[in-house]
Amino acid sequence: MQQQINQATWLTQTEQDTVALAEQLAAWVKPGAILALDGDLGAGKTRFSQAFARAIGVKGIVNSPTFTIIKEYEGEQLPFYHMDVYRLSLEEADELGLDDYFYGDGVTIVEWASLIKELLPTERLELYIEHLGDEKRRILLTGYGEIYASWCRAVSEIGAGR
Ligand SMILES: Nc1ncnc2c1ncn2[C@@H]1O[C@H](COP(=O)(O)OP(=O)(O)O)[C@@H](O)[C@H]1O
Ligand SMILES: [Mg+2]
Repeated sequence: MQQQINQATWLTQTEQDTVALAEQLAAWVKPGAILALDGDLGAGKTRFSQAFARAIGVKGIVNSPTFTIIKEYEGEQLPFYHMDVYRLSLEEADELGLDDYFYGDGVTIVEWASLIKELLPTERLELYIEHLGDEKRRILLTGYGEIYASWCRAVSEIGAGR
């Protein structure tokens, strides 16, 4: 059977609009959820991750995992794994055994996810953040698999109603 794929676009006028999207997605997550982020440096991948972490109940500061590669946090209901794979080769990433995170009890956000596309679970939500200027961003969501496809449909409806 062919995998379901769906897309949605979320436009932001202010940084708070990015926070709102992160909060909405956080409300839907279940253990094993994968959010794969891409977009140029400064697009807002880490900012999105911070808002998401806060929304699932992570206390304290969530900063960029560029140098640590993977950081683990405790949310209220489930662990949060925050990765930045910018500095990794595909081979190095493979050796880290990321599947333990991807198929674990937590929710994972990967910054620069397209660099390790081959290693990502086939079911995931991809978010591509495009910098349009100032606080304006175009966030393209692509949901692979039934659950993430349904998230995209819901985001489209919310976005249209804003
Ligand atoms: N709409 C927006 N969404 C996300 N970040 C925004 C937005 N508007 C302004 N910003 C700012 O842009 C910067 C994004 O940086 P960061 O999240 O570290 O980018 P990345 O992780 O993609 O390299 C932050 O300083 C943030 O405050
Ligand atoms: Mg970052």
